[in-house]
Amino acid sequence: PSPPRPPSCAGAEPLPPSGSIDMSLVLVVHGGGGSNISTDRKERMRQGIARAATEGYNILKEGGSAVDAVEGAVAVLENDPEFNAGCGSVLNVNGDVEMDASIMDGKNLSAGAVSAVRCIANPIKLARLVMEKTPHCFLTGHGAEKFAADMGVPEIPVEKLITERSKKHLEKEKQEKGAEKPDCPKNTGTVGAVAMDCNGNLAYATSTGGIVNKMIGRVGDSPCIGAGGYADNNIGAISTTGHGESILKVNLARLTLFHIEQGKTAEEAAELALNYMKSKLKGLGGLILISKTGDWVAKWTSVSMPWAAAKDDKLQTGIDFGDTKIVDLP
Ligand SMILES: *[C@@H]1O[C@H](CO)[C@@H](O)[C@H](O)[C@H]1NC(C)=O
Ligand SMILES: *[C@@H]1O[C@H](CO)[C@@H](O)[C@H](O)[C@H]1NC(C)=O
Repeated sequence: PSPPRPPSCAGAEPLPPSGSIDMSLVLVVHGGGGSNISTDRKERMRQGIARAATEGYNILKEGGSAVDAVEGAVAVLENDPEFNAGCGSVLNVNGDVEMDASIMDGKNLSAGAVSAVRCIANPIKLARLVMEKTPHCFLTGHGAEKFAADMGVPEIPVEKLITERSKKHLEKEKQEKGAEKPDCPKNTGTVGAVAMDCNGNLAYATSTGGIVNKMIGRVGDSPCIGAGGYADNNIGAISTTGHGESILKVNLARLTLFHIEQGKTAEEAAELALNYMKSKLKGLGGLILISKTGDWVAKWTSVSMPWAAAKDDKLQTGIDFGDTKIVDLP
């Protein structure tokens, strides 16, 4: 039996017939596939993803749309300096921040993306404005920044996005250049969210600072619809993380949903797609996925991936294999 619907959903739209379809509210977030996270940082990351998932789930409970929820959850992670998105983004070869983000509404495949944007706090909000206020899907660099200014998005000094940790990370990377295989994600990834709302609508959002020591103008998978994420109410919603160049080459998000279209479960589809990327390209990564039936999965081939899932008023969190914790949500 489905839980009661939030009042704002009642009568808003006829609900799809229930039955085998589980129409509960679902919100899943990730904090990036990666490796070698220190123990104290792990705890801060677990708290951060729990906060983001709770924020997104509360938006759903108040009757908000899946798009509202994924935007809200990702903004929490962009504002958290522990994660490689917004404040806390990794630095490019010049010590500068260039961020990418995308968002998609599974109801009608509306999508918005920005890449190589600087000096704004929340690229995911700008991606949503691209989706809703322009006839386009994707704005980049200077044009995206001009659009942000036109929309009244406040410009912030780049220093507000740069942390001590990201400065040290760049220094270390420059010293150890070539020591780590390029197809292994570093210990910071991307952030993302997927949601199912009270009308059964699906959405995804993904945001990132990219990869440390990247070339100026490098764009990864995160803003690319079909690679960094995808949402279609007829199939599912997915946000990906990991080695961006590999994710782009296999179109990881759309590839995973293709397996679901072919009759695989969410779990099987995630495993098939991630293993394909690993065997074909030695590319490591992770993903979160909600299928149209409300089943969700968090899977990764990297060493770790902070994730959190809220459903049926329970919150699950994890970082490494087999360390899942479950708590009741208030
Ligand atoms: C992993 O982290 C530990 C402690 O933070 C560090 O000593 C070690 O060098 C790291 N290993 C790699 C491969 O980066
Ligand atoms: C898609 O749906 C959203 C939300 O219901 C709506 O705001 C938007 O105008 C729709 N876009 C198109 C292209 O139909």
